[in-house]
Amino acid sequence: MANPLFARKPLSLLLEELHGENRLRRVLGPVQLTSLGVGAVIGAGIFVATGAVAKETAGPALMLSYAVAGFVCMLAGLCYAEFASMVPVAGSAYTYAYATLGELFAWIIGWDLVLEYAVSAATVADGWSGYFQSVLAVFGWKLPHAIAGPVVNYDPRLGKVIATGSFVNLPALLIVVLVTVVLVVGIRESANLNTTLVGIKVGAVVFVIALGAFYVNSANWHPFAPYGLTGLQVFGHTLLGQSDAGGKPLGVLAGAALAFFSYIGFDSVSTHSEEARKPQRDVPIAILVSLVLCTLLYMGVVAVLTGMVPYGQLDINAPVADAFGRVGLRWAQLIIAAAGIAGITSVLLVTMLSQARVLLAIARDGLLPMGFFGAVHERYRTPWKSTIATGIFVAALAAFLPISVLLMLVNMGTLLAFVIVCGAVLIMRRKHPEAERPFRVPFVPLVPVLGILSCLLLMFSLPSENWLRLFVWLGIGLVIYFTYGRRHSRLAAARPAGDDTLREVKEERTA
Ligand code: ALA
Repeated sequence: MANPLFARKPLSLLLEELHGENRLRRVLGPVQLTSLGVGAVIGAGIFVATGAVAKETAGPALMLSYAVAGFVCMLAGLCYAEFASMVPVAGSAYTYAYATLGELFAWIIGWDLVLEYAVSAATVADGWSGYFQSVLAVFGWKLPHAIAGPVVNYDPRLGKVIATGSFVNLPALLIVVLVTVVLVVGIRESANLNTTLVGIKVGAVVFVIALGAFYVNSANWHPFAPYGLTGLQVFGHTLLGQSDAGGKPLGVLAGAALAFFSYIGFDSVSTHSEEARKPQRDVPIAILVSLVLCTLLYMGVVAVLTGMVPYGQLDINAPVADAFGRVGLRWAQLIIAAAGIAGITSVLLVTMLSQARVLLAIARDGLLPMGFFGAVHERYRTPWKSTIATGIFVAALAAFLPISVLLMLVNMGTLLAFVIVCGAVLIMRRKHPEAERPFRVPFVPLVPVLGILSCLLLMFSLPSENWLRLFVWLGIGLVIYFTYGRRHSRLAAARPAGDDTLREVKEERTA
C-alpha cells in the first residue's frame, strides 16, 4: 500500500522479531499466566465499585449486568486469544492492529491502551485509597481531608469540575510508588508476588460467597431491577430506559457498562505472550479460564451482597467488607478488608506491568523513543524506564483526579480497543487466511461481529460526555503521532526501497 500511514507490519516480520535480542525472558507457565489474568481482573471493580453501581444504577439486577459484561468480554476474549496465539509478542492489541490495519490505527490503539492500562491503574489506585481509608475507619482512624482524596471532582448536575478542598490523594500516590519499585526489580519476582496475592483474593471472594450465602435475605432482591433492564443513550439522548437527574443512563445495560471495569485486565495476559513459555497454547487458555472464573465469582458476590444489604443502603467505598460488618461479623469484615487490599494491589501490579510492555512494543517500532521506552535493564531484564514513566503518570492521575471520571474514561477506551481487535480478526482472516492459527475463534464472522456490536452498545450506555473525553484523548495521541511517531517509524523508514530494506530493519534490530 502506497500511503505509509496505513503500512502494515508483515506477519513474518513480527514472528522473526521474536528471535531478536533485547527480548524478555520466557518464564511464565499456564498457571502463572492465568493468575496474571485473574490478578488483573478481580480488584477495585468488585471490591469497591459494586456498591455504587448497585445502589445508583442497577439495583440487585447488577447480577445480570455482570453476566452481560462478562459475555461481551468473552466475545472479545476469543478474538484476543486468536491473535495472541498467532503473534505471541508483547504489545497486545497494538501489535495486532499493526499487522492488520496499519501503522496509524496501531498508534491509535496503542495510545488508547494507555487508557486501559495506565489510566485504569490510576482508577484502581483511587479505589485502593478509598478502600484503605474505610478499613482505617473500622479502627476509628481518619486521614486529614487535605491528603485523603482527589483535588477536583466532576459534578454531572452542574456539568462542571469543582474543587474538593483536598491537595492530594496520598494513599493512592504511595501505593503507586510502591508497586513501581516492585515492577522494576523483575518479572519473576512480580509474578511470584502476584500469584500469592491472587491466591489471597480468590480465597476471599469464595469466602464472601460461601459465608455470605447464610446471611442472604431474599426480600432484599425485590424489586430486582428498580432502574429497569436497559439504559441506553446516544450522545446524551436517552433511547431506552431511564436516566437520573444528571442525565446519566440507568438500568441493567448502563450497569453493565460500568461493571465492565471489573473485567478489564483479562487481555493483559496477551501482553505477556512474549514472556510465556508456550504462548500459543497457554495464552488462549489463560484468557478464557480467567474470564469464565471471574464471571461466576462476580455474579456470586453481587447476589450475596445485594441479598445481605438492601441495595439503597450499600456502602460506596468498601461495600463487600461493610456488608459483613452490618450483620455483626466483624472478624469476617476484617479478613475481607485485608484480602481486598491485597487483591486490589495485585491489579495495580499487573496493570502497570502491562502498560510498560505495551510502551516497549511501540518503542521498538520507533513510534516512541526507543532509547527511553525500549530500555531493558541489564540486570533485572525489565523495561525499567518505561515502568518508571508509567509510575509517574499513574501517580499523578491517581493523586489528583476522581475515581468516577477515570473509571468511565477507562471503560470507553477499553471498549474501543475491543472493537478494533474484533474487527482486526475479521480483516486478518480475509487477508491472511493461510496464516497459522493455533487457536481459532469459533463461528467467524458471527463472534467478532457480535463482539463489535455489543462493545458499541456498552459504549453508548455510558454517560455521553465520555465520548467527548475519548475524542480529546485520541486527538492528543494524533498530535504525538504526527509530530514524532510518523517521522521515526522504523517500518516507514524501511519502505522506500521495498522489501529488501525491511530485511535491513530486521538485521539492525537483531544486531
Ligand atoms: N478489573 C480491574 C479491577 O476491577 C481493573 O480492579
